[in-house]
This record gives sequence, C-alpha cells and structure tokens, in this order.
Amino acid sequence: MADLCIVPCFQKKNGRADCVKIENENLKKCLKTGDFKAEENETFVDYSEEARIRFRAKRVVFVGFGKSGKLTAEKKDTFREIGGTILQLSRTAKASRICLQMSNLERKAMDIIAPYVIEGALLADYSFEKYKHVASDKKYAGIREIRLLIDGKPGALRKKISDIKVISESVKQARDMANEPGSNWIPDSFADYAKALSVDDAITCTVLGKKQLQSLGMGGILAVNRGSDVDPKLVIVEYKADEKAKTVLLVGKGITFDSGGISLKPSAGMEEMKHDMCGGAAVLATMNWVRKSKPGCNVVALVPATDNMPGKNALKPGDIIRHYNGSTSEIVNTDAEGRLILADALSYGIEKYSPDCVIDLATLTGAVIIALGHHNTGLFTNNEPLFQMISEAGSEVGEPVWRLPLGKQYAKQIESKIADIKNTGGRDAGAVTAAQYLAHFIGDLPWVHMDIAGTAWNFTKKTYVPGTGASGGSVRTLIEFIKRQ
Ligand code: BES
Ligand code: MN
Ligand code: ZN
Repeated sequence: MADLCIVPCFQKKNGRADCVKIENENLKKCLKTGDFKAEENETFVDYSEEARIRFRAKRVVFVGFGKSGKLTAEKKDTFREIGGTILQLSRTAKASRICLQMSNLERKAMDIIAPYVIEGALLADYSFEKYKHVASDKKYAGIREIRLLIDGKPGALRKKISDIKVISESVKQARDMANEPGSNWIPDSFADYAKALSVDDAITCTVLGKKQLQSLGMGGILAVNRGSDVDPKLVIVEYKADEKAKTVLLVGKGITFDSGGISLKPSAGMEEMKHDMCGGAAVLATMNWVRKSKPGCNVVALVPATDNMPGKNALKPGDIIRHYNGSTSEIVNTDAEGRLILADALSYGIEKYSPDCVIDLATLTGAVIIALGHHNTGLFTNNEPLFQMISEAGSEVGEPVWRLPLGKQYAKQIESKIADIKNTGGRDAGAVTAAQYLAHFIGDLPWVHMDIAGTAWNFTKKTYVPGTGASGGSVRTLIEFIKRQ
C-alpha cells in the first residue's frame, strides 16, 4: 500500500474538471460544489475508504493540471511546480512511498508529463537540516519510491526517470555545498568533492595548491587570498569523451566567503556571502552528472577557490596585480574579487585545454540583482549561436536567462591610467563592467558569462526550489546544454 497516490485531473475547455474516468463519490461532490476545478497546482486530498481501496493508498490526492495544451517550456515548468506541490503535501503527511496513477488518462499524455512532475518532486525533496537537532520521528524521510501505475510497459519513461534522478541529485549536491558555512566549506572542500568524482576512469582531477599557483603566476587568485589564513586552490575536473569531440570549458567562482576584504562589506546581510561559491558548486555538481551520464563532448570544469578576507597581509585598494596571462590590474575595490580569480582561471583554462567554448558562472555583482531581481540570470556573451543554445537550454529547464550588453563604451569605464585595466568601473552598469573585465581575458573564443548573483539563492518562489538558502540554480541549464552538444 502506498502512502500517497496521485491522481492527475485535467480541465476541459469549458473550465470544468475532466476527471470523468474516475468514479469517486467524494470527488464528484467536490466537483459539483466547485471546490475543486482541477486548476494548475490545485489539490484535493481524499481519505475515504472508497478512494483508499480503489487506489490502494493511505490517501489519494487529486491534482489539478489545468487545461491540456501544447507542451511549452512554461507548461513544463508548471508540471515541475505541481511536482513540488505534491512533495510539500507528502512532507506534511510524511509520505515516502508515492504512486502516480497514469492509467486513467491518455497514456501518451502522461508519458510526456510524468518526467516533469517527478523532476519537480525530487528537486523539492530537499532540506538542509544537518546542523539542526530534529528528532527522528519529526523528520521526513523523503521520497523512497515513486511507483507508476501504468497499463502498458513503462518503456522509455524508465530511462528518462533514472536520468532525472541523477540530475536532481547533482542539483542537491550544489545546494549542499553552498549551504555550508564559510568556515566549513573551504577551498579544500572543493578539492575533496572533485577527488571523489575522479574515482571514475573517465574523470581526472587536479588540484593546484598555493605553491603551484605562485609558480604559474596566478596573481589574481593569490591577491584575493592574501588576507586569508586558508590556502587557495584551483580545482580542475576533466572528462574525456573522445579525442575528436568538442571541448566545453566551465569555470565557476569559488569564493568560499566574501567579506569584501579591506573594502569591507557592511555587516547587514554579510552572512549570505557564504554563498559566494555557488558558481563553483554548480560546475562541479554538473561534473557529477557528467561522470554518471558520459555525454559525447569533453568537459573541463575549473574552480578557483579562496575566501576574501581582510587579514593583515590583505590586498589593498591601489595595489596592482599581475594575472596569469600577463595583464596587470589596478585594484580599486577589494570587494570586486570574483573577477580577479576568474581572470586567472579563464585564461589558464583557455590556454591549457583549447576549448571550443567557455561558460563561466559567478555570483559576481549586486548590480545584476538591481537589474533583473531574482527571476533571471544575467547573461553576457560574444557569440550569438552560443547565446541561443544557453538561452534555449535555460528556458527548457525553467531557469531563464536574460542577455545584457557588452561594448567598447563599457570597456572605457574600466580603463586604468597606471595598469592595463582596473577592477571596478563605478556604479553605473556594474554587472556589465564586471563582465567586460572578464571579456579582457577571453579573446575571440565563444564565451558566455552568467552572473547568477540573483538566482543562486533567495530564489523566486517556486515550489520545487527552497525558499531559503542555495537554489542549486544553473546546474540543470549546464546539463541541458551539454546534452545538446
Ligand atoms: N559577491 C559579490 C556580489 C554579490 C553581492 C552577490 C550581493 C550577491 C549579492 C561580489 O564579490 C561583490 O562584492 N561585488 C561588488 C562589486 C563592486 C565592489 C564593484 C558589488 O556588486 O557590490
Ligand atoms: Mn565581493
Ligand atoms: Zn564576491
């Protein structure tokens, strides 16, 4: 007997619920009074003997799916949200064995819909309670089983669902990394995570420590690390599909805590800066999926990792540093540290791995939150086709991106009188000048920069994304992009 059985109900064109194939007294009454209209995300829980016997479950939840129609990206995300709603219900009911009734509907429709619902439920099945004392009888054990009640054979659906499990597991790993306090998730933690991935033959992991960064001349990472007591790391994970295959380079900002350095941030909200490594978490979590799914393209992930602290040897405003590629940078504000570590990682990755394209993810600027809020990731690129691909991948998985411009005029804002470039361009267009700084280290290679400061935590309300803490955002976009290579 399942703990909870989900029975999907659609709406007819006239707005009436279309649950005709389900003969259930309670539901009939409910439909008659109009208490349940099968609108999207609407639920009706039935504990009646009749329902419980009929669906062989402790409780039956009739779930509204709204009007059936074309499977647009928006509709897919609605289905994920429905999955999230179902999980929230299951959490309250402590239901771990769930079944999804699929035989009362057009089989084909449900084959298409079920993966999104399940994805939403699995993504919603997350809480970060590691540091909380929760008595075990108060704890929700999570989903243990999702059984599909199907007339025929599950066929291709099974394979899809096992992929969805790996994807949601990866997303949750990204959340876990980012939710750790800044004193617990340190550069070495990234290294440990990466090493654990490389148990697989197709994956190699390399960790460059402080000495190696010094001999390579990674002045950006070392500069940011100067105020810290914890050594920096450049963590590299490589997946080789085939010698002749395309190579995608992923780079993620791994600032394990951003105090601002000598340009110290105000105290209010500073605790959120433990999340300043969400870019790094996203690219490594993506490698978890890569390891298990073995896509056809080569993927290299780089995470430059350090905290940004105001220790006694800290970088000073006015200092000039030299990056891996030889460019010098005038430090105007030590709180614009993300671009400094990314600059080294980007130019190193491009030189060493000759990728066909590069994507970087970074919680780079507060300015992008002013521009786009928490509903879109800010995207910058020098390449139209790559933009299309990322943008489509993002919409497909319900993680929309919005393109912002780059240009010579903005580059002017970060010209320095005493160095090749300076690390801030003033208040105006702060997200753009940060991206423009990165562009300096890219050249002509197809490149996308995703400023995830607004989407990596404190996310838009979605039933399948935690309302507090890290969202695990962009992992699914990267995975979808890699799948399409
Ligand atoms: N990690 C921050 C960006 C950030 C701010 C992310 C708020 C999420 C929420 C980044 O290192 C930073 O401090 N950027 C500065 C740049 C400025 C000094 C040019 C910013 O956005 O204020
Ligand atoms: Mn900063
Ligand atoms: Zn930062």
